[in-house]
Amino acid sequence: MLRYRRRALIALSILVLGAAVTGGVVAASQSSDEQALQPVPHAASPAVEARVNSLLAHMTLEEKLQQIQLLPDFLVTDEAVRKGLGSVLSVTDPARIRELQRLAVEESRLKIPLLFAFDTIHGFRTIFPIPLGVGASFDPKVASDDAIYGARESAAVGLKQTYAPMVDVSHEPRWGRIAEAAGEDPYLNAVMAAVRVKGIQGSDYSARDKLVSSPKHFAAYGQPENGRDYNTTDMSEQRLRNLYLPPFKAALDAGADTFMCGFNALNGVPACGNRYLLTDILKGEWGFDGFVESDWTAVAELRACPPKTPDSGECGHGVAADGPEAAALALNAGVDSEMTSTLIRDFGEELLAKGEISISRINDAVRRILRIKMRAGLFEHPYAPYTPDQAEAQMLLPDAVAAARRAASRSMVLLKNEGNVLPLDPAKRTAVIGPLAKNQHDLLGPWWGRGEDEDVVTVFDGIAEQSTAATTYAEGCKLSNMEVPLTDPEGCGSDAGFAHAVAVAQAADQVVLALGETREMSGEANSRSTLDLPGLQEKLIEAIAATGKPFVVVLFNGRPLALEDIVDDAPAILEAWFPGVQGGPAVADVVFGSVNPGGKLPASFPYRVGQVPIYYNHERTGRPCNKTFKWNSQHRDIPSCSPLFEFGFGLSYTTFSITNLRLSAASVPTHGSISASVDVENTGTKTGDEVVQLYLHDPVA
Ligand code: GLC
Repeated sequence: MLRYRRRALIALSILVLGAAVTGGVVAASQSSDEQALQPVPHAASPAVEARVNSLLAHMTLEEKLQQIQLLPDFLVTDEAVRKGLGSVLSVTDPARIRELQRLAVEESRLKIPLLFAFDTIHGFRTIFPIPLGVGASFDPKVASDDAIYGARESAAVGLKQTYAPMVDVSHEPRWGRIAEAAGEDPYLNAVMAAVRVKGIQGSDYSARDKLVSSPKHFAAYGQPENGRDYNTTDMSEQRLRNLYLPPFKAALDAGADTFMCGFNALNGVPACGNRYLLTDILKGEWGFDGFVESDWTAVAELRACPPKTPDSGECGHGVAADGPEAAALALNAGVDSEMTSTLIRDFGEELLAKGEISISRINDAVRRILRIKMRAGLFEHPYAPYTPDQAEAQMLLPDAVAAARRAASRSMVLLKNEGNVLPLDPAKRTAVIGPLAKNQHDLLGPWWGRGEDEDVVTVFDGIAEQSTAATTYAEGCKLSNMEVPLTDPEGCGSDAGFAHAVAVAQAADQVVLALGETREMSGEANSRSTLDLPGLQEKLIEAIAATGKPFVVVLFNGRPLALEDIVDDAPAILEAWFPGVQGGPAVADVVFGSVNPGGKLPASFPYRVGQVPIYYNHERTGRPCNKTFKWNSQHRDIPSCSPLFEFGFGLSYTTFSITNLRLSAASVPTHGSISASVDVENTGTKTGDEVVQLYLHDPVA
C-alpha cells in the first residue's frame, strides 16, 4: 500500500430482517460483499493456447489486421466480414446477427467467428435501475440480478460481449456519466463491479446465457475536470491507486476478460495511448490475458485536428500527428482492438514495414482476441441459442420483470420523512402530479439498451394499481430534454399548468409529486453546470406545499442533485433514480409501505454545485473544516462542512440500533485480517433491513 491511507468504507451490507413488532437481534447473514470480492481462479487453458497459436500461424497479415478491427452496425459490410473482421457492435437484431455470423464462419477464409458486442449496462430489454441506483441498494444481489438477466436476454439474440460494468469512481455530479457506476466510493464500486462481472460471465461464459464482460473506462475517466465529459483527468499516483483503480482490479479478479480504455487523458497521456495503464499495470502488474478494446474512435482522437477542418469528432488530443502515428501509439501502448476508427487496420502494414510496430505486438493482440473467442465457445457455437423467431420470447420474462421491480424498490433512498408522512394510505385519494408522473421514456434512464418506452409501468399506473380510492393526475409542467431550443433549455420553464395541478391536489387527500431530470440530462455527453431541479419544478413544490396536503417528492434523476432549496418545502423526499421498466410499481411499493426503503446514497448530495467536489473520504488538511471559527478550510456561505446528504445516508420506516462493536483481536499484522462484529436491532415497528457501515481511518498516515 502507498504511504498515505484513506478512510475506507468497509460496508458490511448485512441483511437484517428485524421482528415486525418488538424488534430483536437477528443473526446476520454472511456479509455478501466479502463473497462478491472472492477472486475467481483464472488459469489459461493449454488446449486453448495450442488452438490459438495454431490458428495464428495460418493467418496472413491482412487477416490479423482485420481481426483487430471492431466495427459498429452502420459500418459493417458483407465484404468486411468475408475479409475476416474481428468484432461487431450494436447489432442486436437476431436475424442480422445470424446472417453476419454465417458469412464469417462459412465465407471467410479461416472461418473465424465474429464477436458481437452491445452496451447492456443496466438491462437489455428488461431495463433495471441505472447503476448509480443499484449502487444505492448497497446489495450485491441486486447488481447480480441486473447482470444475470441482462446477459441472458443479450445472449438470446446472439450477442457475446457487453461493454459493462462501467466502474468509474466519480466525485463529479455535474458529469452525466456518474449515472453509470456506483458513485464515489472505491469499495462499493469494487463490490458492485465484481458481482456484475460474475453475473455477466458466470463461471464459464461459453454458456448459452452468458457474455464476456468489459469493465470500462480504464482508467479514471470519472474524474473529468469541471465535470465536462471527455475532459482532462489529472491526479496523483496515490489517488489513482487508492480511488480509481480498485474497482478495475476487483473486476479483473472476478474474471473480466476484456477491458475498454477511455476517452480521457490521464496526467497528460490519453488512456488509449497510455502504455503505463494498459501494458505496465493492466497486462504487466495485474497479469491480464484478455484483450483491450478502445472506446469509440478513441484511437483516431489521439490525432491533432488538421488545421481548418470541420470538427469531425475524430481528432483532438494532439499526441499523434496523423493516422499512422495514432495507430502505432495505440497498438504499442496496449490497445488490441480498435473500435469504429480503422487506423491500425489501414496503416498496420505500412507501420510494420517501417518498423514502427512489431509483428510480435500484432500477434499478441490477435492472440488475445482469439483466446477470448475460444473461451466464449464461439468456434463450437457461433450462433445464438435461439432462432431469431424464438429470441423475442426470451424478453421481459416474469422472473426478470420481478427482479427489476425488486431492484428498483431496493435502490430507492428515503431522504426525508417528516412526521412519518410516509407510508401513504392506499385507501385515500392520491393525486399523482409532475412531468415524471406518466412518463415512460425517461424512467428507462441513459443506456436504455433495447428497452421500449411502452415496457415501462408509469408512476401513475403503479399508484393507481395499488390504490383502493381514486387516483388523479396533472402534469404540472412539461420537462423537455437539453436538445430543446435554448428558449427552454432545461424544461419546465412555464407555470401555465400549475393552477390545474393545484386544483387536482386540493381535490385529493395526498399527493405524489414526480419530479427530476430527463434521461438525456444524464449519461454520455450530458454534463450540466447546475445540479438544481430543472426549470420551475421547485416552484411547483411550493405550489403543492401551499395546499397543505400531505405529499412526497419522488425524484427521478441520474446524478446527485442540489436540494437545498426544496428540502424544507417537502415533508418527504424519496430518491428513485431512473428506476427502469418497473419504476411505477416499485414507487408504489415504497410509498404505500409494502417495501420499507433501505437504500443509502452512493454519492454525496451537496448543498449546491459550488460545494463540488465533495465526498466522504477526502484527505485531511492542516486546517480541517470547522464551522466554529473562520480560519480553516470551508465555504463561509454554506452552513455545514458536510454535503446536504452524505454518502451512506438513507432513512427507513423503522429504526435500528447498532451496538456492541467488538473485534476478533486487539491488533492486526500487516497482511493479516480482523473481524468486527456488531449487534443490529430493529427498534421500530416495521420489518426492514439495514446496511452496517464501518469506516476506518489511520489517524497518522
Ligand atoms: C461510447 C461510450 C462507451 C460505449 C461505446 C460503445 O462512446 O463511451 O461507454 O461502450 O461508445 O457504444
